[in-house]
Amino acid sequence: MSILVTGGAGYIGSHTVQALLDGGYNVVVVDNLTTGHIESINQAQVKFYSCDIRDKEMLSRIMREHSVESVIHFAASSLVGESMKDPAKYYDNNVYGTQCLLEAMSSQNVKHIVFSSTAATYGNPKQLPILETEPTMPTNTYGETKLTMERMMRWFEQAYGMTYVALRYFNAAGASENGAIGEDHTPETHLIPLVLQVALNQREHISVFGDDYDTSDGTCIRDYIHVSDLADAHVKALQHLQDGGTSDVFNLGNGNGYSVLEIIEAARVVTGHSIPARMEARREGDPAILIADASKAREQLKWVPQWTDIQQIISSAWKWHQANPKGYANE
Ligand code: UFG
Repeated sequence: MSILVTGGAGYIGSHTVQALLDGGYNVVVVDNLTTGHIESINQAQVKFYSCDIRDKEMLSRIMREHSVESVIHFAASSLVGESMKDPAKYYDNNVYGTQCLLEAMSSQNVKHIVFSSTAATYGNPKQLPILETEPTMPTNTYGETKLTMERMMRWFEQAYGMTYVALRYFNAAGASENGAIGEDHTPETHLIPLVLQVALNQREHISVFGDDYDTSDGTCIRDYIHVSDLADAHVKALQHLQDGGTSDVFNLGNGNGYSVLEIIEAARVVTGHSIPARMEARREGDPAILIADASKAREQLKWVPQWTDIQQIISSAWKWHQANPKGYANE
């Protein structure tokens, strides 16, 4: 019996693959490698297929050949800014891709799916910190497609009995403690890796997208959660479903909000670099504040984040970026 990980060569996917291997699971990865990195996969331990999730036939064959019993689904386009400019790409890759995956699962009688969802499903929340019961009103196409994917799973459960856990994560950050894998996007759009590129003298400054939000210093506030803590939550969610647990939705975050300026300041302390910042216009689709109430995951999945200090989280990313200044292209 195996666990199929879609998008397992991506940032959060590769850390989850490592956590599954550490937990003794047989792992099969499919990834079309448009944003994932083959170097992040240990092919001695993992069966890897270069496959797009919209290829239903190939997915079905892989599930059959490896006796896949559960899926962890990461494969998706995931950039807020891009999703506002190219919504069709997000509906095709995310929504239609998930439809193909669920169809392949139902054809092969695969019963469980853990799904990589997002805080972007909430939009601008009315209450902070955000509970799973908060209304979902996405402010961007990315969040809208992830919400649609969650809902699709609910209807597939009714029709075919497959159970799901949707994990709505806040802002993933950091790198594996052993330094083997980390964050490498091209182009990079995420705050922490961009700030660290400035510290590596690869960029002259960090742009701050808006300082006129209704927050303490005017910049957006986010809840940063270490990628290894996210990986651990996926394994716990899988166990929950395999033990007969019911379908559910869980927030994953630390419950602490940091503004863009606070992240830059923390990175200055970690790196010893002055990291010049320049104020710029708001980025379309950005909610002002996203902070998680993740007590449901703590109580029901027994998930306890190990990385709660923002400087430690940034330090783990900094270690990886220093060792891999060109990302996986170094290898
Ligand atoms: N930001 C800047 N300058 C930059 C890059 C980002 O000011 O050069 C700001 C953004 O405007 C935002 C904050 O830093 O306010 C964080 O931005 P990121 O791009 O790092 O992350 P997002 O919050 O936009 O999105 C991330 C993931 C999404 C996920 C979301 C949930 O990319 O997949 O977290 O909170 F949905």
